[in-house]
Amino acid sequence: MALWGGRFSSGPHESVAKLSRSVDFDWRLAQYEIRVNIAHVEGLQRSKILTSDEAQKIVVALKELSQDVASGSFTYNDGDEDVHSAIERGITAKLGELGGAFRAGRSRNDLIVTDFKLYLIDHLLEVADQVVHLAVSLDAAALNNMSVVAPGFTHLQHAQPILFSHELAKHSHALLRDVDRIKDWLDRNSISPLGSGALAGSGLVPNPEIIAADLGFKGVTRNSIDAVSDRDFVAEALFIFAMLGIHLSRFGEEFTIWNTQEFGWVTLDDAFSTGSSIMPQKKNPDIAELARGKTGRFIGNLTALLVTLKGLPFAYNRDLQEDKEPVFDSVEQLLTLLPAVRGMIDTATFHGDHISSDVLKGHALATEIADFLVRKNVSFAHAHEISGKAVALADIKGMDVHELSDSDFFSVDSRLDNELRASLSAKSAIEARGAINGTSTKSVTTQIEQLEAKIRSSSTWITSERNRFSGMMST
Ligand code: ARG
Repeated sequence: MALWGGRFSSGPHESVAKLSRSVDFDWRLAQYEIRVNIAHVEGLQRSKILTSDEAQKIVVALKELSQDVASGSFTYNDGDEDVHSAIERGITAKLGELGGAFRAGRSRNDLIVTDFKLYLIDHLLEVADQVVHLAVSLDAAALNNMSVVAPGFTHLQHAQPILFSHELAKHSHALLRDVDRIKDWLDRNSISPLGSGALAGSGLVPNPEIIAADLGFKGVTRNSIDAVSDRDFVAEALFIFAMLGIHLSRFGEEFTIWNTQEFGWVTLDDAFSTGSSIMPQKKNPDIAELARGKTGRFIGNLTALLVTLKGLPFAYNRDLQEDKEPVFDSVEQLLTLLPAVRGMIDTATFHGDHISSDVLKGHALATEIADFLVRKNVSFAHAHEISGKAVALADIKGMDVHELSDSDFFSVDSRLDNELRASLSAKSAIEARGAINGTSTKSVTTQIEQLEAKIRSSSTWITSERNRFSGMMST
């Protein structure tokens, strides 16, 4: 069903209809379209464009249609151009002429942005919820491994000993920053573009503030031209998805390495790994690899939208229809990926013995020797030099620096007396780092408690935002 045609002598050519048609993908917006229509119809009633009887009939029919869409008994057909025309066809089938009446006072230009914003709000909250659950799983793994010491790496070389829990918990911090970004997004973008009309505002619905509040928004956009042109909120969402993807890719890379025969730090559950069609022995970390690999398309989706927006004239241009598929793709891929990653962590077995076995290899306690000297009032530059000499001596002797004898240390520098020995264990190196951000048992325990508090407050926030935006359909 077309929403235009009066001035045309013919319908669009087949090739144009095919090019123009968006319903195959924008049908995902059907429920938001219905919600927005209900709020708009109530606005038309307040403006006396519709009688209360007409408005009520349309609202009842829209709510019925919402159920038909949910059950699948109503869907789009070959003649529908977009979600707007499909929904209007559904309402017209129920109400006849009245079905075309509520289009008054709005345009597809403000409608599509409002639908899309509501879709993004729902799905950003769903992504936030999944990310929070992933953080819960990581924290549980961190808590279960509090006694495991691990080599901490820089440049993929042993650097300093750390608690393995500190290593695991770092991912929660990155992921909860993504949740924070979603909060920021909602703070900035919870304003309704409806009532902007085609570009100049609506002559028939003078009260967009009430419609906005009905939909759950905190306010109304203030420039109708900007409002129908603005896709910053889409680009910001795609950036959030890309950044989250990058976090998942770094996590995936780490798990892939930990799962190698060389590392042997983790065994994956059979249900969360995959086999090879030729090599019967293989058990591969494909989930971790897909977490790493899917990031390419998340970044691609962001890039695609930014390029579409660059140099685009203000108000509505059809280029803007290209804003949706990148978002649908990123959302759907993330919502497929996140539960699998979470399951992989929940069912993974970490091998504490393996993780800690080589913790001191690569002179990992050299910094302890320098710190020991600094505590004896040696400048760090000098202490660094002396510790480096100890490392060089250990290299000559084919050992790690902590394996040097007391007399070896003494020969390097007389201040390296036998008190040094107490500093030369992974445990003491770890427990020496007791500041709020450090790797000591106390710091990591506090860190995990704080993560858990943040997870709880994020969950509460997600529930309250969900209620705010879906409240209208439950009445
Ligand atoms: N399918 C269009 C989109 O997604 C809806 C808006 C169409 N507006 C127009 N003036 N042709 O952007």
